[in-house]
Amino acid sequence: MSEVKLEGVVKTYPGPDGDLTVLNGIDLVVGRGEAVSIMGPSGSGKTTLLHIIGTLLPPTSGRVYIDGVEVSSMGEGELALLRNRKIGFVFQFHHLLPEFNVVENVMMPLLIRGEEDAEEKSREILELVGIAHRVKFKPSQLSGGEKQRVALARALVAGPGLLLADEPTGNLDWKSSLQLIEVLKDLHRRLGFTLIIVTHNREIAEKWGKIYLLERGELKCCIN
Ligand SMILES: Nc1ncnc2c1ncn2[C@@H]1O[C@H](COP(=O)(O)OP(=O)(O)O)[C@@H](O)[C@H]1O
Ligand SMILES: [Mg+2]
Repeated sequence: MSEVKLEGVVKTYPGPDGDLTVLNGIDLVVGRGEAVSIMGPSGSGKTTLLHIIGTLLPPTSGRVYIDGVEVSSMGEGELALLRNRKIGFVFQFHHLLPEFNVVENVMMPLLIRGEEDAEEKSREILELVGIAHRVKFKPSQLSGGEKQRVALARALVAGPGLLLADEPTGNLDWKSSLQLIEVLKDLHRRLGFTLIIVTHNREIAEKWGKIYLLERGELKCCIN
């Protein structure tokens, strides 16, 4: 379980009409094992914020700490290692590799780490997300909800302390959305990772401890 801390995070993108400040001094602490959601209008910077927390994007200024270690000043090699060890990502689009089957896709992060029993661990987590009967299927042979559950399994198979989910139900119908969220709740209870989930949906946001609102560059707690 990881602790996340942001201090005065600013993100500015260069634009045709000058710089655009998307995040204007964000402070945030998410404790070990805590689950929080972030809502906000389209274009308010939710993905930017999640990418900065996940060390995929550097802040323009301010600091990001994961487990008390400042990551905002680390080099790319060190960050790649840290992401591989500590952070799982789930996006709106599943990003599964089309030429590999379900269990191969889930094994990938373990193979990259050179771990033994990659297949056994992958089958275990696929059992937990309810996809054990589809391990030999290719992504194209799965429903949208099943693909997202596989993506969730892949994000969690290496046991990250932090899971970042960016509108994971954004492409799903309501029934599949609820199913994915129930699976995520169950995994959070069992595995205890820290979770930050971005969602447009109030009902989904309310399933977690705190709801933050990102608007006009500022993050407000707790709108629930
Ligand atoms: N790489 C980029 N370069 C320039 N502007 C960007 C870039 N990425 C995002 N933006 C702008 O930053 C704002 C926030 O984007 P984003 O973080 O994707 O918001 P959200 O996820 O809340 O919809 C938008 O106005 C978007 O156009
Ligand atoms: Mg987004």
